[in-house]
Order: sequence, then structure tokens, then C-alpha cells
Amino acid sequence: MIFNRSILFGALGIGAVLLVFGAAKEARQMGNTQGYEPDQPINFSHKVHAGENKISCRYCHYGAERGRHAGIPPTQLCLNCHSEIKKDSPEIAKIKEALDNKDPIEWIRIHQLPDFSYFNHSQHVTAGVSCQQCHGPVESMTRMRQHAPLTMGWCLECHRAQGLAPPHDQRTMAGGDCNKCHY
Ligand code: HEC
Ligand code: HEC
Ligand code: HEC
Ligand code: HEC
Ligand code: HEC
Repeated sequence: MIFNRSILFGALGIGAVLLVFGAAKEARQMGNTQGYEPDQPINFSHKVHAGENKISCRYCHYGAERGRHAGIPPTQLCLNCHSEIKKDSPEIAKIKEALDNKDPIEWIRIHQLPDFSYFNHSQHVTAGVSCQQCHGPVESMTRMRQHAPLTMGWCLECHRAQGLAPPHDQRTMAGGDCNKCHY
């Protein structure tokens, strides 16, 4: 819906304002956490790492092609670079401190489906769906935020487009095989 609206109003030249308005309204209406963008314990920037320095998503989120969770990288992995790079920065000092004290860094979780639903990264990543199709332009985010609504409707919209779920008007089979995504 946002997509169609933006094309329409984009053509009229007032797209940007209405797109922002529309997206905010949509997020509120759905009562979900789309747009959630919490402060993190370390000022970690995807723009710096994945954007400017072109570090591959999978270098840090190596779980994504292997299993259910993409995972957050262990603190030790940061030191592959930061034992040298910017080692005198106060933000980097927090990394060393966490390791010395054996305290895991308490990253605040952003994306989270309810317990009764099941999502597996490897099923998607190995089928060629890009991280950005679901997580948006991560390589330009200074602070991570939830890009997609992560609702059932959002899952099904893409599955329908791929021919993985029956079309919207076949209500008896609203989402295809429920057990694929529900326990
Ligand atoms: C240098 C390591 C590194 C690279 C490269 C990296 N990430 Fe991350 N990613 C992290 C860390 C650390 C966090 C937790 C802090 C935060 O949310 O910013 C994170 C968080 C995330 C989250 C949110 C997790 C949650 O809590 O829901 C997503 C989504 C994500 N990354 C996707 C990507 C994508 C897509 C790319 C490539 C474009 C990428 N990351 C590249 C280290 C990395
Ligand atoms: C088809 C959509 C989709 C794709 C493609 C996708 N993700 Fe996710 N991602 C999700 C959903 C949904 C969640 C929440 C999962 C949950 O709560 O179980 C999530 C959660 C995450 C998290 C939080 C930690 C975790 O593993 O649950 C990270 C980090 C992440 N994704 C990174 C990535 C990276 C990196 C890629 C590409 C290699 C990627 N994702 C591809 C939908 C996707
Ligand atoms: C593959 C190399 C690599 C890895 C792994 C890596 N970084 Fe970085 N990081 C960089 C580079 C390059 C910069 C930019 C340095 C510059 O601005 O000169 C950077 C910058 C930073 C900065 C900004 C520091 C400042 O004061 O400007 C922080 C904070 C940071 N990284 C945190 C992390 C954390 C946390 C991890 C682990 C989850 C991590 N990095 C993993 C390469 C890496
Ligand atoms: C492609 C994956 C997928 C399929 C197939 C699917 N669901 Fe869901 N469903 C989800 C996800 C993810 C959520 C949690 C997010 C949300 O509440 O929208 C959810 C939420 C729900 C909820 C919670 C109520 C709500 O709307 O908030 C119900 C009830 C539900 N699904 C029933 C079903 C039934 C019945 C089927 C089969 C006809 C089905 N689902 C098929 C992914 C799926
Ligand atoms: C951007 C598109 C896209 C989104 C969004 C998406 N999926 Fe998928 N999903 C796919 C593709 C493509 C496949 C097919 C993989 C294959 O062909 O092996 C797939 C496969 C699956 C499968 C394997 C079973 C099957 O139907 O073949 C499950 C389960 C699944 N997705 C759950 C989810 C859930 C749950 C969500 C939402 C939280 C979701 N997907 C969101 C594209 C998507």
C-alpha cells in the first residue's frame, strides 16, 4: 500500500512528505514495532561497517545461511579488527572491557516474532532472498532499526508474489499451510 501510494504521489512531486506521513501512520495502525530504533550499549554503525568499509553481512551474521538465526556476532569477533583499528577510541575501549570482565555486550534485540510463529533465515538466504529485501538499506543505517512490519500479512505478501502461498481471494486457504510458520 505504501509502495503504491509513493509511486502515485512521487509522480505528483509531493511524494517524500506523504511517504513519511503514510509510513508513520501505517506503523501505528498495525500496533507493531516497525521503525523501532533503540540506543545500543556501543555506538555501532552499520553504515561504517557494511557501507563505507564494505564488510559482508555474513562475515558478522554467519548464522544466516546455516540455520534459523542470523545471530549477533560474539564480542571476540570485533577484535579481529579492533585490536588495531581505532583501539584508542572510548567506544572500542568498551569492547575490550566487556571481554576482560567476561561480560557479554548487552545488545538490545530489535526484530522479534511472537513465540507461536517460526521463521528460518537459511530457508530464505539460500533461496537467494537478500538481507535488504527484509531488513531494508542496512548499509546506510547509522543506528539499526526495524524496517519491515514482520506481520503475517507481510510474510504472505511476498510468498504470494513468489507463488508459495495461494492468492488473497482464496480465503479458505488464507495462508497456505499454516504449519509451515506456526507450531
Ligand atoms: C562488523 C560486524 C557487522 C556487519 C558487517 C553487519 N552487522 Fe548487523 N549487527 C552487528 C551488530 C554488532 C549488531 C547489534 C547492534 C545493532 O543492532 O546495531 C547487528 C544488528 C543487526 C540487525 C538487528 C538485530 C536485531 O536485534 O534484531 C540486523 C537486521 C542486521 N544487523 C543486519 C545486517 C545486514 C543486513 C548487514 C549487511 C548489510 C549487516 N548486519 C552487517 C554486526 C554487524
Ligand atoms: C525473508 C526475510 C528475511 C531475510 C531475507 C533476512 N532476514 Fe533477518 N530477520 C527476519 C525476521 C523475520 C527476523 C526475526 C526472527 C525471529 O524473531 O525469530 C530476523 C532477525 C534477524 C536478526 C536478529 C537475530 C536473529 O538471528 O534472529 C539479524 C541479526 C538478522 N535478521 C540479520 C539478517 C541478515 C544478515 C540477513 C542476510 C544474510 C537476513 N537477516 C535476511 C527476516 C529476514
Ligand atoms: C572486519 C573489520 C571490523 C570488524 C570485525 C569490526 N569493525 Fe568496527 N570498525 C572497522 C572499521 C574499518 C572502522 C572505521 C574506522 C575509522 O573510522 O577509521 C570501525 C569503526 C568502529 C567504531 C567507531 C569507532 C570510533 O570511535 O570512530 C565502533 C564503535 C566499532 N567499529 C565497533 C565495532 C564492534 C562492536 C564490532 C564487533 C561487533 C566491530 N566494530 C567489528 C572495522 C571492523
Ligand atoms: C508464511 C508464514 C505464515 C503462514 C503460512 C501462516 N502464518 Fe499466521 N502468522 C505468521 C506470523 C509471522 C505471525 C506473527 C506476526 C503477526 O501477528 O502478524 C502470524 C500470526 C498469526 C495469528 C495471530 C493473530 C494476529 O493476526 O495477530 C494467527 C491467529 C495466525 N497467524 C493464524 C494463521 C493460520 C490459521 C494460518 C493458515 C491458514 C496461518 N496463520 C498461516 C506467519 C504465517
Ligand atoms: C521478501 C520475500 C519473503 C518474505 C518477506 C518472507 N519470505 Fe518466506 N520464503 C520466501 C522464499 C523465496 C521462499 C522459498 C524458498 C525456496 O524456494 O526454497 C520462502 C520460504 C519459506 C518457508 C519454507 C516453506 C515454504 O513455504 O516453502 C517458510 C516456513 C517461510 N518462508 C516462512 C516465512 C515467514 C514466517 C515469513 C515472515 C516472518 C517469511 N517467510 C517472509 C520469501 C519470503
